[in-house]
Amino acid sequence: MSVFKREEVLYPEYLPLNLPHREGQIKLISENLSLLLKNSKPMNIFIYGPPGVGKTAVSKFILREFEQYSGIKNIYINCWQYNTSFAVLSEIGISIGAFVSRRGWAKDEIFSRIVQTMENNRLNLIVVLDEVDQLIKNDPNVLYDLLRIENYTKQKIGLIFISNDKYVFRNVEDRIKSSLNLEDIEFKPYTFLEMKDIVEQRMKEAFVAYEEGVSALVAAKAAERGDVRVALEILLKAGRIAKDKLRVEDVKKVIKEENNPRAQEIMKVLREEEKRILEILDKPRTTKEIFEELKKSIKISRTEFYRVLDEMIKKGLIKVLGKENRSSLLYKAL
Ligand SMILES: Nc1ncnc2c1ncn2[C@@H]1O[C@H](COP(=O)(O)OP(=O)(O)O)[C@@H](O)[C@H]1O
Ligand SMILES: [Mg+2]
Repeated sequence: MSVFKREEVLYPEYLPLNLPHREGQIKLISENLSLLLKNSKPMNIFIYGPPGVGKTAVSKFILREFEQYSGIKNIYINCWQYNTSFAVLSEIGISIGAFVSRRGWAKDEIFSRIVQTMENNRLNLIVVLDEVDQLIKNDPNVLYDLLRIENYTKQKIGLIFISNDKYVFRNVEDRIKSSLNLEDIEFKPYTFLEMKDIVEQRMKEAFVAYEEGVSALVAAKAAERGDVRVALEILLKAGRIAKDKLRVEDVKKVIKEENNPRAQEIMKVLREEEKRILEILDKPRTTKEIFEELKKSIKISRTEFYRVLDEMIKKGLIKVLGKENRSSLLYKAL
């Protein structure tokens, strides 16, 4: 039986119903963007902080909240994907229905179509530019272009820039920087206690049953880097090896593996059946037991199975501990 109630809750792209310990930032940004509802110009926001501290999640959370208001259009752009001014403007144009296809337009045409569509539909925009470093490095004109739109229409745009790099605007011209009118918001790494709340909330959504101590252990590990993604990865892996209930033991096993970079490297190049065998060997088992277990998930003949085992012993992945009931007793070597 699986210990998961909803495994997808642990996927990094899942957006939870609330984001503990980011309420303050969410309120600040949302209130500022609410000015758009009155057709006033909000400040543009710059969110910065290290990976895994909720920058993307908070911005998507806010977009989701604003989605219900008519008269505001939300656009989320990841600048790794769209790293020129042209690409960003095209994406904005397509999102608001200014044109259908990305092809064949000159930048000026895209520009005037965007302005026209905003005017005709009385549309205000919220545009999130996530991982903006790439874009600014590649094509700093984009900032000028984005600012210019508002010169041609009464409609307003609220921009949210996101970056790991606090100094991403350092080479931008002063004139543009001051026109951007940025409100900086720092996202600091989560402390242990904050991490524990976040982990517990996700566990409640994700698992059928778990032991008391799990959240503290996972949070402690993730708080070393302040990165929630670490916690989610551990929980997902531990959940996959857990039996009826997620136990502290399962989490310890995962953390032990993560601390062993050599083992991680090796895991990457293994074949499916080899990986499965290593998973089965969470404690010493006889060849017969391994074969019975392996057959449940992988189609393999007995001869082939023994060949794989032999090879794994030669590669130093598993070792022979002795004999039990005339069958070899094996365990992981790593
Ligand atoms: N306060 C929080 N509460 C719940 N989940 C969070 C919180 N902050 C971050 N997360 C989760 O952690 C993961 C990484 O967050 P993300 O926003 O992508 O980080 P960043 O963009 O800062 O690198 C996501 O799955 C996100 O849902
Ligand atoms: Mg992010």
